[in-house]
Amino acid sequence: MWGKRPDMIVRNPLPFNAEPPAAVLTDGQITAVDAFYCRNHGEFPDIASEQWRLTVGGMVDKPLALTYDELTTRFSAQSVIATLACAGNRRAELLKVRPIPGKEPWAHGAISTAQWRGARLADVLEAAGVHNDDGLHVAFDAPDLAPEAVPPQSYGSSIPLHKALSEEVLLAWEMNSEPLPRVHGGPVRVVVPGYIGARSVKWVSGITVQPAPSENFFQALDYRVLAPETNPETVSAGEGISMSSLPLNCDILVPGDDDEVPEGPLTIEGWAVAGEGRDIDHVDVSLDEGRTWQQADLYPAISRWAWRRWSLDVAARPGPLTLTARAWDDTGVTHPEWPASIWNPRGYQNNAWARVELTISASSR
Ligand code: MTE
Repeated sequence: MWGKRPDMIVRNPLPFNAEPPAAVLTDGQITAVDAFYCRNHGEFPDIASEQWRLTVGGMVDKPLALTYDELTTRFSAQSVIATLACAGNRRAELLKVRPIPGKEPWAHGAISTAQWRGARLADVLEAAGVHNDDGLHVAFDAPDLAPEAVPPQSYGSSIPLHKALSEEVLLAWEMNSEPLPRVHGGPVRVVVPGYIGARSVKWVSGITVQPAPSENFFQALDYRVLAPETNPETVSAGEGISMSSLPLNCDILVPGDDDEVPEGPLTIEGWAVAGEGRDIDHVDVSLDEGRTWQQADLYPAISRWAWRRWSLDVAARPGPLTLTARAWDDTGVTHPEWPASIWNPRGYQNNAWARVELTISASSR
């Protein structure tokens, strides 16, 4: 279990993919390392920090080859609290609309928040004499071989240079004040706050500044929102929308699907995230499937790059209950109402209104 809690929901033992039960994510605003979700496309490498090397090349004047000691001592360490969310989080709800073969049925837990510490990618790129031209991309390579890729290849991804030069993007070697665990990319991973988790490449071994996005399978073919009637088996590279910034979204963590809870006071808890550069204005919760709404209490923001947690106390009456939640950002926009309106063949980026169905039992007097 790679040091994870025994109640993790294992979606695949090898490569190891697991999410915490939703309620566990309400234990504090920062997720404990043993509860943080794990998303892997291949068996992960075992790289001692003394053996780890990072090359930085492509459109730079001074290509670099850095050791772990050089990275951690030459560049000033920065901390960022950031939420990582898998683009497949909440796919289970999309699966109720239409089948999505071959993809993990992530429920509510493929999202977690940590405090990351490491060097700014911008500082490393600057030391390499990066060509700061418009439209460039920064590609990340990793050594883990992903058998599901066509053809099989190691994991890779890229982000636009303008994002790579933003102060929040780190080459992280610490997670919640611990050395970055192997399962999360130790000794060093990329952390791209605000972007889908797929861009935060673990066990990063190479960085290339280049004129176009990475041609890696996970950038050019997977992690794309395809048009509903597209056959994902036959799409060509570059088809569909390449995901980057997380969309406006929210979810209910407590109570959980199919819970049975006694009538009376009920605390509903969840999270919301706004797209890059935006803030959550408020979160609404409905107990009558959207006819009336109450505003949830937002917790103070812990970071620009972290989820915004919220809660609401209500009085629950006996019978079946559907809870609905929706977030609004500071431009006055909310997200789509139903999973069916955003269903896509690979089941990505479900940001429909959150819904949980449960039963409230009458108390015996
Ligand atoms: N990096 C490598 N090298 N290999 C991977 O399989 N998975 C990506 C990303 N980085 C992956 C990777 C995906 S899809 C996600 S959502 C995040 O890592 C998950 O990070 P975590 O396992 O630390 O939660």
